[in-house]
Amino acid sequence: SRVVKLAVIPGDGIGPEVVAEAEKVLDAVVADSGVTFEKTRFSLGAGRFLETGDTLTDEDLDAIRAHDAILLGAVGGQPGDPRLKDANIERGLLLKLRFELDHYVNLRPSKLYPGAPGPLADPGEIDFVVVREGTEGPYVGNGGAIRKGTPHEVANETSVNTAFGVERVVRYAFALAEKRRKRLTLVHKTNVLVHAGAIWKRVVDEVAREHPDVAVDYLHVDAATIFLVTHPSRFDVIVTDNLFGDILTDLAGAVTGGIGLAASGNINPDGAFPSMFEPVHGSAPDIAGQQKADPTAAILSVALLLDHLGLGAQAARVQRAVEEDIASREGTRTTEQTGAAIIARLQA
Ligand code: NAD
Ligand code: IPM
Ligand code: MN
Repeated sequence: SRVVKLAVIPGDGIGPEVVAEAEKVLDAVVADSGVTFEKTRFSLGAGRFLETGDTLTDEDLDAIRAHDAILLGAVGGQPGDPRLKDANIERGLLLKLRFELDHYVNLRPSKLYPGAPGPLADPGEIDFVVVREGTEGPYVGNGGAIRKGTPHEVANETSVNTAFGVERVVRYAFALAEKRRKRLTLVHKTNVLVHAGAIWKRVVDEVAREHPDVAVDYLHVDAATIFLVTHPSRFDVIVTDNLFGDILTDLAGAVTGGIGLAASGNINPDGAFPSMFEPVHGSAPDIAGQQKADPTAAILSVALLLDHLGLGAQAARVQRAVEEDIASREGTRTTEQTGAAIIARLQA
């Protein structure tokens, strides 16, 4: 029978709380599937750094790389914690994993499920996927500062956009659009970021010629935020730069019922490295340790994980159980209660 080696990184704050529920759902849905998940738990994050001074050692990275997939909760301490100033958990751990494991597709689906507490009065159908570039853009750490702390300080953060990097994620987005409603929107800021904008626009135009049945349009990122609120049903696949994708997907989470429902996959489509599945949200220090976090985003990330591993039937069961639960939610529940309610649907 098939064995899947899964690295589990619960992380900080609400990470361990939501991952606990996600793991229970995973265990329940694969129980009778003939697939065994061999899990290795990695203690990484701000907590580990404060104890040992390590963010992600070479040994950690090698060990994680030897797995088939990764499930991550969230990492990062309280924003502004002076003890974490130089630790850079976000760069040294989360982004390091995304870069080293070549997660060039950051897949972030947004769907307004019946019963979800969306903030829009008349949203229509919301069902789109943001294909966020995951290994380039302003995230690469290509920057520096001089004359720090003086009135003449200069700080640069240079966005890196390569033809190779843009083309591979754009191709992925077109292939996804072909399988969906065949609409693709490029979001950028070509009116200001002329060099980066030009390469994205050119590559999209070129790849579009190979997909004559996909309707392609373009929006500047500022206008895209308008339409995400006023007319979100116009979107099917959005392809965009790493930073724009980060910002748009928190907004997308908010318009589809809250960040507690937003799942993501950091995908290495070539399969050379393990892909990593995680909620879009962070460690939420404001509600950590109180059983207040919604584990749904982590649980839907398990559905993305199962799908990625070719376990489509199990993924669909998780998806259905979550949708049924969302449709019938009332009152406040603890993190564990929500997990248990979803598992009950799964087993019904
Ligand atoms: P956040 O996503 O952690 O929290 C933003 C708001 O959303 C908070 O009010 C929080 O309580 C709420 N929220 C988040 N997840 C929720 C859930 N599952 N259920 C209910 N409410 C939820 O963003 P932040 O406050 O900007 O960041 C906190 C820390 O997390 C920072 O250190 C940041 O760098 C890190 N972070 C990590 C990841 C990740 O690991 N992938 C993602 C984003 C932020
Ligand atoms: C996310 C987070 C990360 C990002 C941070 C914590 C590095 O906000 O996963 O959306 O910006 O990608
Ligand atoms: Mn983010």
